[in-house]
Amino acid sequence: MKHDPQSPYYSELGRLRFSPGWARPEPSMWPEPTPKFKPAVWRFASAKRALDASHNMVPAELTERRNLIMVNPIEGNTYATTRTLVAAYQCVMAGESARTHRHSAAALRLVLASKPGTYTIVNGARVDMAPGDVVLTPAWSWHGHVNESDETSYWIDFLDIPFVQLTEAMFFEPYPAGGLEPITTHRSSPMRIPSGEALGGGREAKTVEVGAGIMPTIAMHLIRQPAGSRIDVGKTTVNHLYAVARGQARFEVEGGLDEVLGVGDLIAVPCWHTHAIEAPEDTVIFRVSDEPLLTKLGLARTGGGS
Ligand SMILES: [Fe+2]
Repeated sequence: MKHDPQSPYYSELGRLRFSPGWARPEPSMWPEPTPKFKPAVWRFASAKRALDASHNMVPAELTERRNLIMVNPIEGNTYATTRTLVAAYQCVMAGESARTHRHSAAALRLVLASKPGTYTIVNGARVDMAPGDVVLTPAWSWHGHVNESDETSYWIDFLDIPFVQLTEAMFFEPYPAGGLEPITTHRSSPMRIPSGEALGGGREAKTVEVGAGIMPTIAMHLIRQPAGSRIDVGKTTVNHLYAVARGQARFEVEGGLDEVLGVGDLIAVPCWHTHAIEAPEDTVIFRVSDEPLLTKLGLARTGGGS
């Protein structure tokens, strides 16, 4: 019998909401990952200029958060930085605050610039935010940001929102009383990880995991690279976001990306892209990944040669 995709047989399948598995417009499985997401770089200096300009352009009432989302430049994407993670530059201007809320997506932030008087209230605990600090707000924890200093504070937010959206398990709740949650404790919080202390003294190459096990979907690592060192990363199904916390780093990523990043710059390295990181000076890099998620699901896998 002659195959005719225009035949009444196929239109009847469509009417019944069936798609014949033998005539898919594109395959649903591949021999190995063929990621749609691309390696891409975002610059803190560009974000800072745009965020500063937002002060005059966008009234605070219009923004739940004053942030700029790093949207991966692939067709049809309007939000995600990698398949499971999103990153954004955020600022809180002097004297401003960002109202308390909570959500089923997990979040963390790397502080880039701040003066004393900048803090996040996490479940009633005041968590101070100094440059280089990593501040965690695991899923469903109340959090609001305050800047009582006289200068704008900036940080990078990292969240698993694209993954939570995929699962359709998103919940969001503003603080019932409105505004900011009151501070009920000043005790030191496990939600604050100072990067300098986490890495300890010395200048030798070192990679430490921080906040291990606190968030089920996201892993965080601090990577110290002395001047002249190089790290090679092979193919992995793990998606990586790297932000430079100190110094500078040259990233060469499979596919042709070759760029030097300074403090506060971020690069997305989607899964299955080999990459190399060179440090022309003593450098600290903060890495965020979806490794725990993939490991739990049995999807963490490496290989593929170069
Ligand atoms: Fe939030």
